[in-house]
Amino acid sequence: MQDNENIVWHDHHVSRAERSEMKNQTPCILWFTGLSGSGKSTVANAVENLLFQMAKHTYLLDGDNVRHGLNKGLSFSEVDRVENIRRVGEVAKLFSDAGLIVLTAFISPFAADRNMVREMTRPGEFIEVFIDTPLATCEQRDPKGLYKKARAGEIKDFTGIDSPYEAPSNPEIRIVNDGISIDNAAQQVIDYLKENKYI
Ligand code: PPS
Repeated sequence: MQDNENIVWHDHHVSRAERSEMKNQTPCILWFTGLSGSGKSTVANAVENLLFQMAKHTYLLDGDNVRHGLNKGLSFSEVDRVENIRRVGEVAKLFSDAGLIVLTAFISPFAADRNMVREMTRPGEFIEVFIDTPLATCEQRDPKGLYKKARAGEIKDFTGIDSPYEAPSNPEIRIVNDGISIDNAAQQVIDYLKENKYI
């Protein structure tokens, strides 16, 4: 790997503060984490939809989609999951710097990786949203049939089955997404953003 010795950081004329003022919002990163099938993407989509209706400026980065492009070729080994989250963290930070409310929906199973993203952002910029759905419920939902395959040994390193998920110990928002509506779950995130003056 090349070192950064001859690469110089440039500050831009248009500041982060000016961008966010123009958009009438405080940029942030809503970092959804949870098991496969927990509802991360569904709830993140519903939150983005509500924000859009409020004329807020957003962008949603979703695990399955990002793995088709930017992170194509990364596996589900521990080392590739770390790289997946590192890249997503960097992209989320850029979009937040552009003044957007960024939503990310990745399993992001390792606490150290989520904390790495938290630490590379500003105080209050990173909002961890734990979609806390019991494994049994996720497995029962099994929207893509992946748990069935994992139990049959057809997929290796499947989160919750033969690869760990480290639940957040102190997330800003925790949603028990079992037996509540998508609207209710999404509203909990909107309420947090309002109460804390992001929107
Ligand atoms: S991670 O752990 O954050 O790097 O994963 P992520 O980028 O969010 O990708 C998760 C989606 O990939 C599908 N999939 C798997 N998930 C977990 N473990 C294994 N082995 C695996 N193989 C494929 C699965 O559809 C995940 O989507 P979600 O939306 O979470 O169900």
